[in-house]
Formats: sequence, structure tokens, C-alpha cells
Amino acid sequence: HTSVIKHLLRQAPVVPVIAIHNLDSAIPLAMALRDGGLPVLEITLRTPHGLPAIRRIKDELEGVIVGAGTVTNLRGLDEAIKAGSEFIITPGTTPRLLSEGCQSPVPFLPGISSASELMVCAEAGLKVLKFFPAESSGGAKSLKAFGGPFPDISFCPTGGIGLHNIADYLAVPSVLSVGGSWLTPDDMVREGNWTAITALAREACLRVAAIRE
Ligand code: 3PG
Repeated sequence: HTSVIKHLLRQAPVVPVIAIHNLDSAIPLAMALRDGGLPVLEITLRTPHGLPAIRRIKDELEGVIVGAGTVTNLRGLDEAIKAGSEFIITPGTTPRLLSEGCQSPVPFLPGISSASELMVCAEAGLKVLKFFPAESSGGAKSLKAFGGPFPDISFCPTGGIGLHNIADYLAVPSVLSVGGSWLTPDDMVREGNWTAITALAREACLRVAAIRE
């Protein structure tokens, strides 16, 4: 899992976190993000359209790696894998979810926001974790501090991240990529303004390239 997820997140420094409110938007939205340079997508199970959207994107779209987010229980984990999710992201963990997630056939990226939660996941053998909710849990400063005692753990932080603070996160050596919902504003999706979403994705890629230069 570790090398697969590291490879995946290095390819995609920004992972859009998406809630699908209308199933018909799934394909054009995923295409718009892919075409803007963001091919790794987290579709959350926050709406009933999440699972069918994952299935549709997986079956119909080339050049996109689609995973499930907001997986909070064993049923969600099972359904997400059956729908074809290529990775699983959770906001936090429970002992059962952690143990099942570690045995899943696709990379499992649980959320943590404290040293103890990190240690529970590390004990289970995980080396790449989501840091959530990033901004309200101390942001880039906390991640930098985790780097002291836990130098072999990498992160994908999400929660309150946007272009205004992405540089702070990418400056932390353990951050492989960041996630966020700012790439898919509700009004743009509702109006089917796919060119605007492609532009947001492109803007994010350009910003990352400038930061990493
Ligand atoms: C998540 O689940 O990762 C977050 O809800 C994304 O956070 P954001 O909406 O603040 O970007």
C-alpha cells in the first residue's frame, strides 16, 4: 500500500475532495478536473450519489484515478471497494475500520489529527496518513512538529486548505499532496461550468509548480 499511495499522491499534488449532488455531473466534473491536470479524485460518500459516481467514473473515464472519501464504517468500506474505488480515505479511524482497511485490496489512507491517533495507525503498519481537519488541528505547524518523532510518516492534509495556504503545507517535507473542496464550488458544478473548473484545477497545478520550483 505504501509505495502505491506514495506514487499516486506524488503524481497529484492536489486531490479534489468532491461531494456529488447530481449523478449526471460526475463524468463531466471528473473530466474537467483531469483536463486541468488533476487526475486523482476523492469522491466522498457524503451523498447517496457517491458510490454510483465512483462506479461510473471507473467504468467510463480514462486517465482518472478515483477513490472514495468520507468512509466512516465497515459497510462504507465494503461498498466503496465493490464500486471500484482505487483508494480509500477516512476522516478518522475505529479499531475495526483500521484493521479491515489495512487488509483492503486498495490503499487505505485514514485520517488522524493527534500523535496518539498517528501512533495507532503506524502500529498497524501505515506510513501515509490523511491529516484532518488540517487547519483547525494546527495546520502546517502541527505537521512540521510530527516530523520530529515520526520522520517516516507522510501526509495528505485536508480541511481548510486553499490557494491561500497551500504553500505552507507543501513546504513541510512530509506532505506528499493536499486535498480540498475548493476546486469544485457548488455554483460552478450546478451550472455545469466545466471550463471554470478546469481553470481552477490548472491554477492549482501552476501554483504547486511555482512553489516547488
Ligand atoms: C475533507 O473531507 O477532506 C474535507 O471536508 C475537505 O475540506 P475542505 O472542504 O475544507 O477543503
